[in-house]
Amino acid sequence: MFDLKGRVALVTGGSRGLGFGIAQGLAEAGCSVIVASRNFSEASEAAQRLKRDYEVEAMPLRCDVSNYEEVKNLMNTIEKELGKLDVVVNAAGINRRHPAEEFPIDEFRQVIEVNLFGTYYVCREAFRLLRKSDNPSIINIGSLTVEEVTMPNIAAYAASKGGVASLTKALAKEWGKYGIRVNAIAPGWYRTKMTEAVFSDPEKLDYMLRRIPLGRTGVPEDLKGVAVFLASEEARYVTGQIIFVDGGWTAN
Ligand SMILES: NC(=O)c1ccc[n+]([C@@H]2O[C@H](COP(=O)([O-])OP(=O)(O)OC[C@H]3O[C@@H](n4cnc5c(N)ncnc54)[C@H](OP(=O)(O)O)[C@@H]3O)[C@@H](O)[C@H]2O)c1
Repeated sequence: MFDLKGRVALVTGGSRGLGFGIAQGLAEAGCSVIVASRNFSEASEAAQRLKRDYEVEAMPLRCDVSNYEEVKNLMNTIEKELGKLDVVVNAAGINRRHPAEEFPIDEFRQVIEVNLFGTYYVCREAFRLLRKSDNPSIINIGSLTVEEVTMPNIAAYAASKGGVASLTKALAKEWGKYGIRVNAIAPGWYRTKMTEAVFSDPEKLDYMLRRIPLGRTGVPEDLKGVAVFLASEEARYVTGQIIFVDGGWTAN
């Protein structure tokens, strides 16, 4: 069970943080991994680590997911170099924090363009390759904000992730007839570059820890199992789901 040998996965945002944790899980299960991010040298380093630690094929590619032309080029390169794609993980994401009434419009737009449009562009362009796979799986990355807005000043982020959750369900319904499964993982609190500011505020960290039933924040490796499951044949009847991996936060 959960064997991904012979499969090819694209992980956007796979160069660090949660995307890299998921890429590690897929590689551990034997999957070849394409790591895509804007910073090519970070993507290359991540791909090297996957090759070294798990003895799988791993390829770095540069792509800004908010740029539709770049996403098209990314898929053309994957088609040319590998000829197939079975799994897509949309982990590329950003956050900007401002009070809603004065949120700079260009920053609001940027968050939506990366998190929501980026996810859509990648799904849209991956479609033709995924259709040829015998077990195609898309894994989007949501957030606690899908269920509950946890902190102030994240209107753009919350709107983008609400969009990702709805997009996940819409694509699952539309593409079920092609056998393409579309699910989302909604992580709780994980210390990464994105959340560094929140984690270094002792009051906020204390608030988080008090509210998490399992008594600790997450580490990227906590997402490996769920991602491998969703990518695998064992999840063949699972689609349109948002799976929270949050130490129990949303059970409150
Ligand atoms: N950390 C948490 O607690 C948490 C909780 C819930 C959800 N999430 C979600 O998990 C995902 C990963 O976040 P993280 O916490 O791991 O953050 P992170 O460490 O900052 O990683 C973000 C990743 O996305 C890439 N990226 C950012 N903008 C991009 C763009 N326009 N095109 C392509 N790649 C881009 C980054 O590489 P480059 O900068 O080189 O492009 C990096 O690989 C995000 O969707 C985030 O919303 C995180």
